[in-house]
Amino acid sequence: MSFSVLGTGMYVPPRVVTNEDISKLVDTNDAWIMQRVGVKQRHISTNETAADMGCKAAIAALENSGVKKEEIDLILTASVSGESISPSVSCMIQNKLGVNCMTMDINAACSAFVFMLETAAGFFARGKVKKILAIGTERLSRIVDWEDRGTCVIFGDGAGAVVLEAGDNYMDAVFHVKGGDNVIDIPQPIGKSPFYEKEQKKPFIHMKGQDTFKFAVNAICHDTKQLLKQNNLTFDDIKYIVPHQANQRIIDFASVMLKVPKEKFYVNIDRFGNTSSASIPIALDEMNRQGMLQKGDLLLLPAFGGGLASAACLLRW
Ligand code: COA
Repeated sequence: MSFSVLGTGMYVPPRVVTNEDISKLVDTNDAWIMQRVGVKQRHISTNETAADMGCKAAIAALENSGVKKEEIDLILTASVSGESISPSVSCMIQNKLGVNCMTMDINAACSAFVFMLETAAGFFARGKVKKILAIGTERLSRIVDWEDRGTCVIFGDGAGAVVLEAGDNYMDAVFHVKGGDNVIDIPQPIGKSPFYEKEQKKPFIHMKGQDTFKFAVNAICHDTKQLLKQNNLTFDDIKYIVPHQANQRIIDFASVMLKVPKEKFYVNIDRFGNTSSASIPIALDEMNRQGMLQKGDLLLLPAFGGGLASAACLLRW
């Protein structure tokens, strides 16, 4: 017993920030960003927290699923950009939704949505819950260094959510973690202890771009091939690959290396940028509402990012 997806939802803040807007902040331009990253615009929060956005995506997912908020037994939230370590983003969403259920945050950076689905599957397998709300929500504009042109052009804000109920449509997943802070690092913004002697890094996203790029392409290729192999499937069996929307070029490289046509990959990074843990549920909601997904379709969801952590799962719609 795992789960099936009953409904999807998303929310992005109304303020659209274009590449032209960013070129007024740092020395960059639309042509460079489009060629190296594939982002044309991103939505940036002006007054909403990760919990605010997550709550709106959750309400949209509940409406889409026909499930009442009182029926939810567990809220799981993935985020690296909440306002506080405690209360967790899940606790804040629970409070805003006005429900009274168990809550928990999952941190696996950009891969967290898949780690969260696996966690949800465990709760269903133990018969602990009947319905789960799983939310990825990020206000990455809060932790981006807006003076670093190597990172600020990549990321965006937003939230995506799914409502899950016990079922058999979450089929399998693979996970890989190679812990370390020398490729991607997001230090916590915590005050300086008079007793601590080491230098503290600025609380922004620090990323070695080319190392991240190589890790990401390898992860997406390795994880998807391993997952298909252990389920006796091929890419021909897959209707869509819905990857973490990190960078258009990462997806293009993976498409070439895997010999899978580009059309099989759902891509929306041009409109939203990289929204970390929110990117896959946002993509799923767009596909769902556009009527792209038919009952029985097999989806492959690969994700990769800070940790370094990567994962991929197989989901039957
Ligand atoms: N605009 C214009 N020029 C820029 C720039 C920007 N926003 N950012 C960097 N540059 C410049 C660099 O300063 C450098 O100039 P130089 O040759 O004069 O020194 C040049 O462009 C190349 O920089 P480099 O860092 O080697 O570029 P790159 O081809 O590796 O692209 C990234 C940079 C970040 C776009 C790329 O490495 C990348 O996409 N990495 C993966 C990032 C990602 O997906 N992260 C999320 C993972 S979940």
